[in-house]
Amino acid sequence: MPITKPLDRMPGAAQAALNAIVVDKVDKEIVRALRREGVRVREVPGIKRVELLKEIAGYEILIGRTRLAVDSEMIEQGKRLRIVGRAAVGTDNIDFKTAERNGIKVVNAPGAATESVAELALTLTFMALRGVYNGSAKLKNGEFLKNSGLELAGKTIGIVGFGRIGSRFAELLRPFNVTILVNDIAKMNGEIKNAGATSVEMHELLARSDIVSLHVNMEVNNGAIMDDSSFGIMKDGAILVNTVRAKAVDMHALQRALDIGRLGFYASDVLWNEPPKEPAELEIIQRENVLITPHIGAQTTEAQARVAEVMIPGLLEALKGLAREEVVMGFA
Ligand SMILES: NC(=O)c1ccc[n+]([C@@H]2O[C@H](COP(=O)([O-])OP(=O)(O)OC[C@H]3O[C@@H](n4cnc5c(N)ncnc54)[C@H](O)[C@@H]3O)[C@@H](O)[C@H]2O)c1
Repeated sequence: MPITKPLDRMPGAAQAALNAIVVDKVDKEIVRALRREGVRVREVPGIKRVELLKEIAGYEILIGRTRLAVDSEMIEQGKRLRIVGRAAVGTDNIDFKTAERNGIKVVNAPGAATESVAELALTLTFMALRGVYNGSAKLKNGEFLKNSGLELAGKTIGIVGFGRIGSRFAELLRPFNVTILVNDIAKMNGEIKNAGATSVEMHELLARSDIVSLHVNMEVNNGAIMDDSSFGIMKDGAILVNTVRAKAVDMHALQRALDIGRLGFYASDVLWNEPPKEPAELEIIQRENVLITPHIGAQTTEAQARVAEVMIPGLLEALKGLAREEVVMGFA
């Protein structure tokens, strides 16, 4: 049965049908599922934050990926907002406290991109070891340069964060005859041992690893995990792979670590601003020993279809929740 007359955060302002705004490109199934429930959907992929802030007051449902923050300002402007659908894994730029205080339900797609991100971390690791990108870019420019690289076999890899993606990355590494060290604040020693890896303190992981790959969830971290002191512990010329969030790495500490050769290569899928705009990040992108992809971790056909699969039941449940509230409040 289509859901109508939503409970509104503005008393007395209930309206005939729910309205959703879709602010990023998401799988069509998500839009279809909402329309099947009678929700009016407006698709404006790529809408700028300033424009959304002006429009958000007209919508009960906001659907997007991780591009736009749902912070206190957005929630304050979104007077009618009741459901935030995040067609992604990370929810770190959602202000959960303010959302909860305002009765807003957040629905995301945990696990949907695990395989895609783990595979990208492995890709970035190989690209860093072999200078694949620079070799190809130079060739396109007419330079035939046979730079020497390193094998993965025999290396020590440090995985920081052993949740869905970190543990899958460890599985992918298994055939390569590597030593895997893991640090996770949740201390999952049993799982880590079963994966053929060794659980160590962060200090030891940084000191021993040739390659460090970040797989933490930033929702539980207040600041950068990689700063001057952590770079100071790393081996000279080590590789850092970051498929998490740019804020896991202190931008200026990264510049200093690259300047002195402490870090041999930085391979990342994420930027501090997406698209980048700060002078320091624009400078980092241009370095020969830096390779940054434009946040494509979940950008596979398979992951996007899985996002819809994982997210739609949660969205439908949240819609039912709204309908139940209406009945209790006597709107039905
Ligand atoms: N690049 C992309 O497009 C893309 C796509 C999906 C997810 N991600 C990122 O990957 C992250 C991880 O995803 P997941 O599904 O594996 O999450 P998860 O919640 O399953 O695992 C995160 C793990 O990190 C651990 N952890 C948190 N802080 C830590 C710290 N300071 N030190 C050590 N361990 C710590 C947690 O205990 C947990 O086990 C997401 O939060 C998201 O930011 C990126």
